[in-house]
Amino acid sequence: MKIAFASSEVFPYAKTGGLGDVAGSLPIELSRLGHDVKVFMPKYNTFGEAEFGLHYNWDIGEIPVRIDGQVRMVHVHTATMPDSNVQIYFVDCPHYFHRFRVYTNDHDEDERFILFSKGIIEILQRLQWAPDIIHCNDWQTGLLPILLKENYSWDRMFDKTSTVLTMHNIAYQGRFAKSAFHKAEIKEEHSGANGIGEYEGDVNFLKTGILTSDVINTVSETYEKELMTAEYGNGMEPFLAARFNDFYGILNGVDYSVWNPETDKLIPYNYSISDLSGKEKNKKFLLERLELPYNENLPLIGIISRLVDQKGFDIVAYGINQLLDIEAQWVILGSGEEKYESLFYEAGKRFPEKVSTYLGYNNELSHLIEAGADIFLMPSKFEPCGLNQIYSLKYGTVPVVRKTGGLADTVQDWNEYLARGSETGNGFSFNDHSAFAMVHSVKRSLIDFHNKPTWLKIQRNGMNKDYSWRKSAEKYTALYEKAVVKRTGR
Ligand code: ADP
Ligand code: GLC
Repeated sequence: MKIAFASSEVFPYAKTGGLGDVAGSLPIELSRLGHDVKVFMPKYNTFGEAEFGLHYNWDIGEIPVRIDGQVRMVHVHTATMPDSNVQIYFVDCPHYFHRFRVYTNDHDEDERFILFSKGIIEILQRLQWAPDIIHCNDWQTGLLPILLKENYSWDRMFDKTSTVLTMHNIAYQGRFAKSAFHKAEIKEEHSGANGIGEYEGDVNFLKTGILTSDVINTVSETYEKELMTAEYGNGMEPFLAARFNDFYGILNGVDYSVWNPETDKLIPYNYSISDLSGKEKNKKFLLERLELPYNENLPLIGIISRLVDQKGFDIVAYGINQLLDIEAQWVILGSGEEKYESLFYEAGKRFPEKVSTYLGYNNELSHLIEAGADIFLMPSKFEPCGLNQIYSLKYGTVPVVRKTGGLADTVQDWNEYLARGSETGNGFSFNDHSAFAMVHSVKRSLIDFHNKPTWLKIQRNGMNKDYSWRKSAEKYTALYEKAVVKRTGR
């Protein structure tokens, strides 16, 4: 199949979270399965052209794209994605994308991604490449399906092109004033009361995508079920219910060419399931680097995260004193809301021997923490999939997680599984979104940490798990086939 994959972030060019990881690896796996894949992302000024081998595409040249009655010129750059022959197309429009960051709160955030969506369609036209599937991701490309079906319906080239929308996080919906549809030149009726795009008096890009894509999915089976409830659906649950027959859950895979302790180039000591001695050396190295004392018997607990409510830091804040009372050391890497940044910054100040906080984004340190920590804490309030717990499993870093979304689908509680008569648990989990439940689970994990044979068993159970993309990419292929049937009837 011919697949155009559209994402506002793609690793290694730009990444603010898991979407970047997914967009940087799923298309490559799809191409390994034999599909013809092209990836599209905006050309931000946050990464170097030379470093990633971008070329200006002279064949396409300049493309006029109209937004709000004004014509903006779009140019195209291309590159080959790492370890693959997948071509990535960068939609270049400095007016919108030279802002030194991927997402902004600027007044024209809607315009930035309207331009991106229109730009993709226009580039496909210039290439005369009619995809079977345009795979959209999150609200940033939520308008693409309706633009394709209405604004560009005159172009018969797209008659057989189906659209898929993957929702990576329902909390981000792209809500803007109604003028956004006017700017996009989407029909007035769609932003009116009960219109496809209207939501609580605004327009909502994600809702529009939910109602106009041929099929929709999210990134784990448990999150798919959760999304049908008012607690998790964030107001989208009635529209998801309307699409029930076309709505699926597919767990993300991970890229083990980037995240594998046997081959990881960003850690000083590689190690494997049969010999974990390198892990202990990484711990020592990491602690030295963080200027924390090393003690083999003191567990090191890691956190790598966007510091936002979604990730459950409200219960961490509530239980911070109990957590810091525990006989353990902590390393926190993250950035986000100020209240959480100062929570961890203060903890580091109060306990300089115990807590190391790095506020900011640091890819290398994230690998080191995965390799050097004993335990990984992820107490998310909701978690569509979550990648860090999957990386942790591979690195023998035992995850302690709240049982929600993709965390519930990937982490099996050691004690619970033991009680069921099997030793297949690979982590620790809790149900209640409460500080008490979280602290209790961290304490449970520490009991087993001090029992070395048991701990090794738990680590190995995790390291044995295979969450590579192959299986998930095959499920996406089946999803694409459903989308084609929806669109063409066969
Ligand atoms: P989300 O997409 O909700 O942030 P995921 O677990 O799916 O959560 O993915 C997060 C990704 O971002 C992981 O690859 C993680 O290592 C990375 N990450 C998050 N915060 C940081 C940070 N401060 N520095 C480096 N990497 C980070
Ligand atoms: C979102 C979710 C995260 C998921 C990622 C990739 O950012 O918060 O759970 O892993 O997308 O799908």
